[in-house]
Amino acid sequence: MTRIIAVANQKGGVGKTTTCVNLAASLAATQRRVLLVDMDPQGNATMGCGINKMELETSACDVLLGDATAADTIISPPEGGFAVLPGNEDLTLAEVTLLQEIGREMKLKKALAPVAGLYDFILIDCPPSINMLTVNALTAANGVLIPMQCEYYALEGLSALLNTIEQVRDSVNPGLEVFGILRTMFDPRINLSNEVSLQLIEHFDTSFDRLMRGSNIVLRMPKTSRSGFTESRTCSIVVSSADRPSSA
Ligand SMILES: Nc1ncnc2c1ncn2[C@@H]1O[C@H](COP(=O)(O)OP(=O)(O)OP(=O)(O)O)[C@@H](O)[C@H]1O
Ligand SMILES: [Mg+2]
Repeated sequence: MTRIIAVANQKGGVGKTTTCVNLAASLAATQRRVLLVDMDPQGNATMGCGINKMELETSACDVLLGDATAADTIISPPEGGFAVLPGNEDLTLAEVTLLQEIGREMKLKKALAPVAGLYDFILIDCPPSINMLTVNALTAANGVLIPMQCEYYALEGLSALLNTIEQVRDSVNPGLEVFGILRTMFDPRINLSNEVSLQLIEHFDTSFDRLMRGSNIVLRMPKTSRSGFTESRTCSIVVSSADRPSSA
Protein backbone atom coordinates (compact mmCIF):
# COMPACT_ATOMS: atom_id res chain seq x y z
CA MET A 1 0.00 0.00 0.00
CA THR A 2 1.26 3.46 -0.89
CA ARG A 3 2.10 5.71 2.03
CA ILE A 4 1.56 9.36 1.25
CA ILE A 5 3.38 11.60 3.70
CA ALA A 6 3.02 15.38 3.81
CA VAL A 7 6.08 17.05 5.30
CA ALA A 8 4.59 20.20 6.75
CA ASN A 9 5.20 23.08 9.11
CA GLN A 10 4.14 26.62 8.29
CA LYS A 11 7.26 27.89 10.00
CA GLY A 12 9.99 28.58 7.46
CA GLY A 13 13.44 27.06 7.44
CA VAL A 14 12.77 24.19 9.83
CA GLY A 15 14.06 21.52 7.44
CA LYS A 16 10.97 20.39 5.51
CA THR A 17 12.72 20.26 2.14
CA THR A 18 15.95 18.80 3.49
CA THR A 19 13.94 16.11 5.26
CA CYS A 20 11.91 15.35 2.11
CA VAL A 21 14.88 15.06 -0.22
CA ASN A 22 16.98 13.01 2.21
CA LEU A 23 14.10 10.77 3.17
CA ALA A 24 13.28 10.19 -0.50
CA ALA A 25 16.92 9.28 -1.23
CA SER A 26 17.12 7.06 1.87
CA LEU A 27 13.95 5.19 1.03
CA ALA A 28 15.07 4.79 -2.58
CA ALA A 29 18.39 3.41 -1.34
CA THR A 30 16.46 0.69 0.45
CA GLN A 31 14.64 -0.27 -2.77
CA ARG A 32 11.40 1.55 -2.10
CA ARG A 33 9.71 3.18 -5.06
CA VAL A 34 9.48 6.85 -4.12
CA LEU A 35 7.82 9.93 -5.59
CA LEU A 36 8.69 13.36 -4.22
CA VAL A 37 6.05 16.02 -4.87
CA ASP A 38 7.15 19.65 -4.66
CA MET A 39 4.22 21.79 -3.51
CA ASP A 40 6.32 24.80 -2.57
CA PRO A 41 6.50 27.72 -5.05
CA GLN A 42 10.12 28.19 -3.92
CA GLY A 43 10.88 24.95 -5.81
CA ASN A 44 13.69 24.06 -3.41
CA ALA A 45 12.97 20.33 -3.46
CA THR A 46 12.92 20.41 -7.27
CA MET A 47 16.27 22.19 -7.40
CA GLY A 48 17.62 19.98 -4.62
CA CYS A 49 16.95 16.97 -6.83
CA GLY A 50 19.01 18.48 -9.65
CA ILE A 51 16.06 19.69 -11.72
CA ASN A 52 16.08 23.26 -13.06
CA LYS A 53 12.79 24.74 -11.87
CA MET A 54 12.99 27.46 -14.58
CA GLU A 55 13.00 24.92 -17.41
CA LEU A 56 9.97 22.79 -16.62
CA GLU A 57 7.66 22.01 -19.53
CA THR A 58 4.86 21.21 -17.12
CA SER A 59 4.87 21.42 -13.35
CA ALA A 60 2.80 20.75 -10.23
CA CYS A 61 0.89 23.94 -11.06
CA ASP A 62 -0.42 22.45 -14.33
CA VAL A 63 -1.26 19.21 -12.56
CA LEU A 64 -3.26 21.00 -9.85
CA LEU A 65 -5.14 23.05 -12.44
CA GLY A 66 -5.91 20.00 -14.60
CA ASP A 67 -3.79 21.22 -17.52
CA ALA A 68 -1.38 18.25 -17.35
CA THR A 69 -1.42 14.78 -15.85
CA ALA A 70 0.89 13.73 -13.03
CA ALA A 71 2.17 10.90 -15.26
CA ASP A 72 3.25 13.37 -17.96
CA THR A 73 4.84 15.75 -15.45
CA ILE A 74 6.82 13.36 -13.26
CA ILE A 75 10.57 13.41 -13.91
CA SER A 76 13.19 10.84 -12.97
CA PRO A 77 16.35 12.80 -12.11
CA PRO A 78 19.66 11.12 -12.93
CA GLU A 79 20.64 11.00 -9.24
CA GLY A 80 18.73 9.75 -6.24
CA GLY A 81 16.79 6.81 -7.62
CA PHE A 82 13.40 8.39 -7.02
CA ALA A 83 10.85 10.28 -9.11
CA VAL A 84 9.90 13.93 -8.74
CA LEU A 85 6.75 15.88 -9.49
CA PRO A 86 8.50 19.23 -9.81
CA GLY A 87 7.19 22.60 -8.72
CA ASN A 88 8.15 26.24 -9.16
CA GLU A 89 6.77 29.72 -8.61
CA ASP A 90 3.81 28.94 -10.89
CA LEU A 91 2.38 27.17 -7.82
CA THR A 92 1.50 30.63 -6.50
CA LEU A 93 -0.81 31.03 -9.50
CA ALA A 94 -2.29 27.59 -8.83
CA GLU A 95 -2.94 28.52 -5.21
CA VAL A 96 -4.84 31.68 -6.16
CA THR A 97 -6.75 30.00 -9.01
CA LEU A 98 -7.77 27.05 -6.84
CA LEU A 99 -9.46 29.37 -4.36
CA GLN A 100 -12.23 29.94 -6.97
CA GLU A 101 -12.75 26.25 -7.70
CA ILE A 102 -15.17 23.69 -6.35
CA GLY A 103 -13.45 20.72 -4.70
CA ARG A 104 -10.26 22.78 -4.54
CA GLU A 105 -8.74 20.84 -1.64
CA MET A 106 -9.07 17.51 -3.52
CA LYS A 107 -7.11 18.48 -6.64
CA LEU A 108 -3.76 16.92 -5.67
CA LYS A 109 -5.37 13.78 -4.30
CA LYS A 110 -7.29 13.26 -7.55
CA ALA A 111 -4.26 14.04 -9.70
CA LEU A 112 -2.06 11.56 -7.83
CA ALA A 113 -4.65 8.76 -7.81
CA PRO A 114 -3.73 7.31 -11.26
CA VAL A 115 0.00 7.07 -10.39
CA ALA A 116 -0.07 6.46 -6.62
CA GLY A 117 0.01 2.66 -7.01
CA LEU A 118 3.38 2.88 -8.77
CA TYR A 119 5.09 4.01 -5.55
CA ASP A 120 5.65 2.69 -2.04
CA PHE A 121 6.04 6.21 -0.68
CA ILE A 122 4.92 9.60 -1.90
CA LEU A 123 6.51 12.48 0.02
CA ILE A 124 5.00 15.94 -0.34
CA ASP A 125 7.15 18.96 0.44
CA CYS A 126 4.81 21.70 1.71
CA PRO A 127 5.33 25.48 1.57
CA PRO A 128 5.98 27.44 4.77
CA SER A 129 2.37 28.52 5.17
CA ILE A 130 -1.03 27.01 5.77
CA ASN A 131 -2.60 27.73 2.40
CA MET A 132 -4.52 25.83 -0.25
CA LEU A 133 -1.32 24.06 -1.38
CA THR A 134 -0.74 22.74 2.13
CA VAL A 135 -4.41 21.80 2.49
CA ASN A 136 -4.18 19.88 -0.80
CA ALA A 137 -1.13 18.03 0.55
CA LEU A 138 -2.91 17.21 3.82
CA THR A 139 -5.97 16.02 1.91
CA ALA A 140 -3.92 13.72 -0.32
CA ALA A 141 -1.81 12.30 2.54
CA ASN A 142 -2.21 9.36 4.89
CA GLY A 143 -0.14 11.18 7.44
CA VAL A 144 1.95 14.21 8.29
CA LEU A 145 5.58 14.41 9.31
CA ILE A 146 6.29 17.69 11.13
CA PRO A 147 9.91 18.84 11.18
CA MET A 148 10.54 21.39 13.89
CA GLN A 149 13.36 23.26 15.50
CA CYS A 150 13.33 23.43 19.28
CA GLU A 151 13.30 27.22 19.61
CA TYR A 152 11.08 30.10 20.75
CA TYR A 153 7.55 30.08 19.24
CA ALA A 154 7.98 26.57 17.83
CA LEU A 155 5.03 25.24 19.84
CA GLU A 156 2.82 28.17 18.90
CA GLY A 157 3.26 27.31 15.22
CA LEU A 158 2.68 23.66 15.99
CA SER A 159 -0.76 24.34 17.51
CA ALA A 160 -1.87 26.19 14.37
CA LEU A 161 -0.74 23.28 12.19
CA LEU A 162 -2.41 20.71 14.42
CA ASN A 163 -5.65 22.73 14.25
CA THR A 164 -5.49 22.66 10.46
CA ILE A 165 -4.81 18.92 10.50
CA GLU A 166 -7.87 18.49 12.73
CA GLN A 167 -10.01 20.53 10.33
CA VAL A 168 -8.85 18.51 7.32
CA ARG A 169 -9.55 15.31 9.27
CA ASP A 170 -13.05 16.52 10.16
CA SER A 171 -13.89 17.52 6.60
CA VAL A 172 -12.18 15.70 3.74
CA ASN A 173 -9.60 13.25 5.14
CA PRO A 174 -10.76 11.44 8.30
CA GLY A 175 -7.85 8.96 8.16
CA LEU A 176 -5.14 11.64 8.34
CA GLU A 177 -2.56 10.80 11.01
CA VAL A 178 0.33 12.67 12.54
CA PHE A 179 3.14 10.20 11.77
CA GLY A 180 5.71 12.05 13.83
CA ILE A 181 7.40 15.18 15.03
CA LEU A 182 10.94 15.42 13.69
CA ARG A 183 13.26 17.61 15.71
CA THR A 184 15.72 19.05 13.23
CA MET A 185 18.99 20.81 14.01
CA PHE A 186 18.53 19.68 17.61
CA ASP A 187 21.49 20.43 19.85
CA PRO A 188 21.22 18.88 23.32
CA ARG A 189 23.93 21.26 24.60
CA ILE A 190 21.55 24.22 24.23
CA ASN A 191 19.23 24.75 27.22
CA LEU A 192 16.43 26.24 25.14
CA SER A 193 16.47 23.26 22.77
CA ASN A 194 16.11 20.93 25.71
CA GLU A 195 13.32 22.97 27.30
CA VAL A 196 11.29 23.12 24.10
CA SER A 197 12.01 19.47 23.51
CA LEU A 198 10.62 18.63 26.96
CA GLN A 199 7.52 20.68 26.23
CA LEU A 200 7.07 18.69 23.04
CA ILE A 201 7.36 15.44 24.92
CA GLU A 202 4.75 16.68 27.43
CA HIS A 203 2.50 17.81 24.61
CA PHE A 204 2.66 14.45 22.84
CA ASP A 205 3.06 12.24 25.86
CA THR A 206 0.00 10.14 25.21
CA SER A 207 0.49 9.68 21.47
CA PHE A 208 4.20 9.22 21.00
CA ASP A 209 6.42 6.67 22.63
CA ARG A 210 9.38 5.97 20.41
CA LEU A 211 12.49 8.06 20.30
CA MET A 212 15.31 7.56 17.85
CA ARG A 213 18.42 9.70 17.81
CA GLY A 214 20.60 10.49 14.83
CA SER A 215 23.43 12.94 14.46
CA ASN A 216 21.01 15.84 14.34
CA ILE A 217 17.53 14.49 14.05
CA VAL A 218 15.14 12.77 16.41
CA LEU A 219 11.96 11.11 15.27
CA ARG A 220 9.12 10.13 17.55
CA MET A 221 6.59 7.70 16.18
CA PRO A 222 2.99 7.12 17.27
CA LYS A 223 2.21 4.22 19.62
CA THR A 224 -0.22 2.75 17.13
CA SER A 225 2.61 2.19 14.63
CA ARG A 226 4.94 0.51 17.07
CA SER A 227 5.39 -2.94 15.61
CA GLY A 228 8.31 -3.80 13.40
CA PHE A 229 10.08 -0.49 12.98
CA THR A 230 13.58 -0.54 11.61
CA GLU A 231 16.03 2.23 11.04
CA SER A 232 16.77 3.03 7.41
CA ARG A 233 20.38 2.70 6.32
CA THR A 234 21.29 6.26 5.58
CA CYS A 235 19.58 8.36 8.23
CA SER A 236 17.60 7.96 11.42
CA ILE A 237 14.21 8.02 9.81
CA VAL A 238 12.08 5.12 10.93
CA VAL A 239 10.07 3.11 8.46
CA SER A 240 7.78 0.20 9.10
CA SER A 241 9.17 -3.20 8.19
CA ALA A 242 5.68 -3.94 6.89
CA ASP A 243 6.54 -1.64 3.99
CA ARG A 244 9.84 -3.36 3.28
CA PRO A 245 9.97 -4.74 -0.26
CA SER A 246 10.53 -8.49 -0.44
CA SER A 247 13.85 -8.05 -2.28
CA ALA A 248 15.31 -5.75 0.46
N1 LIG B 1 18.51 18.10 9.99
C1 LIG B 1 19.24 19.17 9.63
N2 LIG B 1 20.47 19.37 10.16
C2 LIG B 1 21.20 20.46 9.84
N3 LIG B 1 20.80 21.43 8.99
C3 LIG B 1 19.60 21.29 8.43
C4 LIG B 1 18.75 20.16 8.72
N4 LIG B 1 17.60 20.32 8.04
C5 LIG B 1 17.74 21.48 7.36
N5 LIG B 1 18.92 22.06 7.59
C6 LIG B 1 19.38 23.36 7.02
O1 LIG B 1 18.44 24.35 7.39
C7 LIG B 1 18.18 25.24 6.31
C8 LIG B 1 16.68 25.23 5.98
O2 LIG B 1 16.34 23.93 5.53
P1 LIG B 1 15.15 23.68 4.52
O3 LIG B 1 15.25 24.54 3.30
O4 LIG B 1 15.07 22.21 4.33
O5 LIG B 1 13.93 24.18 5.40
P2 LIG B 1 12.42 24.36 4.94
O6 LIG B 1 11.58 24.14 6.13
O7 LIG B 1 12.14 23.52 3.75
O8 LIG B 1 12.41 25.89 4.50
P3 LIG B 1 11.18 26.65 3.81
O9 LIG B 1 10.17 26.85 4.89
O10 LIG B 1 11.78 27.94 3.31
O11 LIG B 1 10.68 25.79 2.71
C9 LIG B 1 19.03 24.77 5.15
O12 LIG B 1 20.21 25.57 5.14
C10 LIG B 1 19.36 23.34 5.49
O13 LIG B 1 20.60 22.95 4.96
MG1 LIG C 1 11.32 24.10 1.90
